[in-house]
Amino acid sequence: MQLPEQVKIVEVGPRDGLQNESTPVPAEVKLELIRRLELAGLSVIEAGSFVSPKWVPQMASSAEVFSAIDPKPGVSYPMLVPNLRGLESALSVGVKEIAIFAAASESFTQKNINCSIEESITRYSEVMEQARQHKLEVRGYVSCVLGCPYEGEIATDKVAGVARRLYDMGCYEISLGDTVGVGTPLKAQRMIDAVAQLVPVEKLAAHFHDTYGQALANLFAVLQQGVSVIDSSVSGLGGCPYAKGASGNVATEDVLYMLNGLGIETGIDMNKLLLAGQYINDHLQRGSASKVARALTGKD
Ligand code: HMG
Ligand code: MG
Repeated sequence: MQLPEQVKIVEVGPRDGLQNESTPVPAEVKLELIRRLELAGLSVIEAGSFVSPKWVPQMASSAEVFSAIDPKPGVSYPMLVPNLRGLESALSVGVKEIAIFAAASESFTQKNINCSIEESITRYSEVMEQARQHKLEVRGYVSCVLGCPYEGEIATDKVAGVARRLYDMGCYEISLGDTVGVGTPLKAQRMIDAVAQLVPVEKLAAHFHDTYGQALANLFAVLQQGVSVIDSSVSGLGGCPYAKGASGNVATEDVLYMLNGLGIETGIDMNKLLLAGQYINDHLQRGSASKVARALTGKD
């Protein structure tokens, strides 16, 4: 069986993990979480988003959070940007990397960013042009790659088409989101097969939510196809405010435990990662959604 020797974990907890929390999490708590994730060895930490605060109130403090980060060498802190207005906010606080987020479902695109897929591509082309002038790195997301909360099944060629357009635009990596966590391993492999015909597999990342408990199985399936970037959220925090019923991303602790067991290098320290998870769970006053964290800390 072919598996990558190394996997890069993209920690999305401070953004995807927290964006759905209804009670505002203070900027200093987000910053302490980011600091603890850095200590654990995460080299990519998605720190927030410059979206409308009317749409996602929890992310309203993103400029404050980003400005207060003391960047560590070798660590990047991408911020989500939906339009030129978001890009301006990002530039005003010195962001070096952004992520743009499209979807393979028309209905989800309307609910999430209030436009059609085609309009979103036009919008993102404008963002990309400006981003290039300011020498920003840009990552691209495609949501609903294994199903949509509004439309159900999504054709793999639709996913591949959107992924290719983001790649052609200049995104250095395309993160494929199972937004509602409905995928299963063979379906995930078929989707990667389709996308990899249009975008090199080494440019793909797997961003799987764990609503149906399938995320680790799906990740193991796509690792065998050569995917070597995995998005995850400490303690399995999260959900998308515009994908009803979607639970958190696969937990970083669970991904790390699986990768350690497979002998795949990540550079992440489990004990320090557990401390980061405990910190945010104590603040949110809830238990971890990570089975591995619960097992290793003896907490149910
Ligand atoms: P709209 O209402 O169509 O925007 O929203 P608009 O251009 O008509 O502007 C309306 C108001 O929003 C105006 O303010 C604008 O200034 C303001 P007003 O005049 O009413 O006071 N506005 C902004 N404010 C701050 N930052 C901005 C911004 N843009 C406009 N960037 C918009 C369109 C895209 C803004 C909105 O739909 C939006 O913010 N959507 C974001 C939704 C979101 O963040 N979803 C979660 C992230 S995606 C995700 O989680 C999936 C992912 O994890 C992958 C996966 O799991 O599949 C990435
Ligand atoms: Mg997500």
